[in-house]
Amino acid sequence: MPLIRFGVSIDKELLVKFDRLIKDRKYTNRSEAFRDLIRQELIQEEWQGNHEIAGAVTLIYNHHKRELINKLMDIQHDFGQAIISSQHIHLDHNNCLEIIAVKGSPKEARRLADTLKSVKGVKHGTLSMSSAGKGI
Ligand code: NI
Repeated sequence: MPLIRFGVSIDKELLVKFDRLIKDRKYTNRSEAFRDLIRQELIQEEWQGNHEIAGAVTLIYNHHKRELINKLMDIQHDFGQAIISSQHIHLDHNNCLEIIAVKGSPKEARRLADTLKSVKGVKHGTLSMSSAGKGI
């Protein structure tokens, strides 16, 4: 794909902050950082549309609450279409970590993550979504 150069006007203060961010994130130059920001925004946009995403739900919960574990399992069976894999890690004596790989519509992935996170006894839950981003 041909590279196109274009000029950007930006106030000095914002540029100083941007350069600091670039340095922190180990970008080699402004262009690379700028391209990544644009890609990120476009991916966000895709999530809001109905493009397919792939992602992961991460949960940390109490190992000793058997009812909670059953409930989490029931929910995952209900969302079987969206789940492609899951991994259970025994973090320590009290805590389990579960990583659930999801694929499909962003809406469904969010609904699954929200349902799992809202179960009493789940200490922490996150959803991260990615997209190969057609044409990005
Ligand atoms: Ni465990």
